Amino acid sequence: MPAVVIVGAQWGDEGKGKATDLLGSRVDYVVKFNGGNNAGHTVVIPQEDGTSEKYALHLLPSGILTPGCIPVIGNGVVVDIGVLFEEIDGLEARGVDTSQLKVSASAHVIPEYNKVLDKVTERFLGSRKIGTTGRGIGPTYADKMNRQGIRIQDLFDEKILTQKVEAALELKNQILTKVYNRRAVTVDEVVEELRSYADRLAPYVTDTTLLLEQAIAGDKIVLLEAGQATMLDVDHGTYPFVTSSSATAGGAATGSGIAPTRIERVIGIVKAYTTRVGEGPFPTELFDDAGDYLRNQGAEFGTTTGRPRRCGWYDSVVARYSARINGVTDFVLTKLDVLTGLETIPVCVAYDVDGVRHDEMPVNQTDFHHAVPVLEELEGWSEDISGARTFEDLPAAAQAYVLRVEELSGSRISVIGVGPGRDQAIVRHDLI
Ligand code: GDP
Ligand code: IMO
Ligand code: MG
Repeated sequence: MPAVVIVGAQWGDEGKGKATDLLGSRVDYVVKFNGGNNAGHTVVIPQEDGTSEKYALHLLPSGILTPGCIPVIGNGVVVDIGVLFEEIDGLEARGVDTSQLKVSASAHVIPEYNKVLDKVTERFLGSRKIGTTGRGIGPTYADKMNRQGIRIQDLFDEKILTQKVEAALELKNQILTKVYNRRAVTVDEVVEELRSYADRLAPYVTDTTLLLEQAIAGDKIVLLEAGQATMLDVDHGTYPFVTSSSATAGGAATGSGIAPTRIERVIGIVKAYTTRVGEGPFPTELFDDAGDYLRNQGAEFGTTTGRPRRCGWYDSVVARYSARINGVTDFVLTKLDVLTGLETIPVCVAYDVDGVRHDEMPVNQTDFHHAVPVLEELEGWSEDISGARTFEDLPAAAQAYVLRVEELSGSRISVIGVGPGRDQAIVRHDLI
């Protein structure tokens, strides 16, 4: 099985990091193919003495925590190099070996001025804001498409770098000073900062597309790990309330240089309920005690920005859509344990839009904003399920919940998460 993709099937924070970590020991390479340090993946690793170690990763692929697994930052990623080194230093200080990291020479760099622009643009938008993470992601992808971006390889050639920064700043400084009333940035300060990273970065930088093709030709297993999720994808998500990259399975090919024909399995990570951070439509969102219950039980506060996550019931229209867009072969249903203690658990089976039933994602974004969930009430359970390791260990009502959600969601549920720990999972079908 050469290449396997992991994608988020909702609005992010489904537990992609944990799923990647779960597979870590069976894969040879883990590639981050989109996004940047807007992502936040929490991975909890049990220790021999019975305690556990918690890691929060942003820019590095979750596979970095598995000894022997080679982590790769692909060409589709946007890299804040200062954050990259901070993350490497933080992990090294905790005894994690990061020396095997590979970084694509073609990945784009997030310059300081794009972080400023991300924040001031949001402020300027006021009530129309997107609720970005403020990490400079949108402006950097915009520069990439606008052919004004700075790439990792540019850092090693001062002349080229200076030319590119000059070209970019010509327009950026007009926008910074005339639209946003901020100070202009000098070419020298930008070049100086980026050049200061070059020597330390050099050993990591390589042609990752060639490296990965050789790995696949040598029968190695390559896992492509998405940041963000299907509903935040710039093409297939709730545009404009999306991130600026391709977070779906198609993006795994362009963002890594691995050919689509090499991808044999697509694993969709889906929470047993739904969360969203930032602005934008969310049909099953709860504004009552039930929402607070999910937020508190599920510790739904952002790994990157600490913002409380918006919470709602499971939305099978979104799951079916994700199964289709990504060609999901297997779902990992995470955080089933969070639902423990609820008397009944509503699940969204379709939408009602102005009296018309929609079983599929409405084609028109305005309809999605007006979608009212058609809910089916499923029976809850009160038993602690965090120790369950087989499907049969689950109480009958929890089994029935999983089976009904599976029936509604367009692909089989192969793994069920019952807690944050690496071992807290029920494997129904092997993923690799
Ligand atoms: P990601 O961005 O998709 O990697 O997800 P995050 O790490 O941002 O958010 C998922 C959170 O849920 C993390 O804190 C995980 O430790 C936690 N988590 C993952 N799977 C489970 C599970 O099955 N049960 C519980 N209770 N927590 C989980
Ligand atoms: P992981 O990988 C949840 C959201 C932001 C905002 C929108 C655009 O941990 O699942 P951006 O800074 O990307 O331009 O913000 O996307 N967002 C995420 N929400 N999880 C993430 O990553 C996210 N990355 C971006 O909140 O609504
Ligand atoms: Mg996250």
